Amino acid sequence: MNPKKLPPVCRIIGTGRAVPERLLTNADFEKMVDTTDEWITTRTGIKTRHIAEPGTPLSKFASEAGHKAIENAGLTPDQIDYLIIGTVTGDMKFPAAANFVQAKLGLVNASTFDISAACSGFLYALEMADALIRGQKAKNVLVIGAEILSSITNYEDRSTCVLFGDGAGAAVVAPRESDDEGGVLSTYTGSNGELYHLLYGPGGGSLHPPKNRDLPSELFTIHMAGNEVFKAAVKTMGDAAVEALDRAGIHEDDIDMLIPHQANLRIIDATAKRLKLDHDKVYINIERYGNTSAASIPIALDEANEKGLLKKGDIILCVAFGAGFTWGSTAIQW
Ligand code: ACO
Repeated sequence: MNPKKLPPVCRIIGTGRAVPERLLTNADFEKMVDTTDEWITTRTGIKTRHIAEPGTPLSKFASEAGHKAIENAGLTPDQIDYLIIGTVTGDMKFPAAANFVQAKLGLVNASTFDISAACSGFLYALEMADALIRGQKAKNVLVIGAEILSSITNYEDRSTCVLFGDGAGAAVVAPRESDDEGGVLSTYTGSNGELYHLLYGPGGGSLHPPKNRDLPSELFTIHMAGNEVFKAAVKTMGDAAVEALDRAGIHEDDIDMLIPHQANLRIIDATAKRLKLDHDKVYINIERYGNTSAASIPIALDEANEKGLLKKGDIILCVAFGAGFTWGSTAIQW
């Protein structure tokens, strides 16, 4: 489907984030697996990641981020009509992480659900929020991207464990009230399940149920063919970015800030190069967080918002790629 350019109906009115205090540095990983600070820095751009204490529920950070976003929006919890969380590491198999967050925040009037789209989860959720508001099914939608990836990371596998971190980011999406206001100009999502085997977590579902106690623990952790994922990410993030621009009817020159999924600095650089963007127009925080999957774009968005880097009228382009494969992009006028 390739929809015509539609007038924007909603905008982001508040953002928030929350991350665990504990840090794992590259020096820590040098003691855990056969790696070096030099390898991690040059191959990924990562220096530290926030890591939750084992057993911390996702809803702790997701609700803190959501609380801040609601406050930043100037709303009260009862004004939220929908809560959508992008995550692959919810508190429990069921109910949804969104149910735990609803209870913690007192979102008494909200319908709730999770989206499993890995690193693209926040942009999938944002597209759903746009559609709900466009269809007048909701007014204020709280969208959260949150992960405790440390709970599914194999800390004996050097090719994956150095990459991932934990955290949550949130945004409140609400109807535009006048043409003077900014808005979500376009959303785009896509997926290709035929390539699932390049990045997946095999255990814990109906194929390998956790009640089968003989299963090896590695089955419950992230499996990734890094180099294949890298190549797909570079191509797909570039294509998705261009698609969001086309759908919004704008051009590369119009972009004031690119907020890409933070998986690898080399993927971010390749995406910026494809869009012919100078470094100062790309928001990068991978060195401090690593890859936080669905949380990475909303954490970056909230940091940029808090620092006053997003000015009224600015064009912001967000783009993500992740397990599934899934991808998403959105062009926003602030
Ligand atoms: N320290 C030292 N050496 C390492 C490490 C490490 N931590 N990890 C791998 N290596 C070695 C490999 O064993 C290999 O050695 P060999 O040549 O002797 O076999 C060598 O480094 C090169 O390995 P590659 O996998 O080819 O390295 P690459 O340059 O591709 O970098 C990386 C690996 C960082 C994982 C990269 O491929 C990447 O970022 N991939 C994309 C990740 C991504 O975008 N994921 C999507 C989102 S995640 C989600 O959805 C949850």
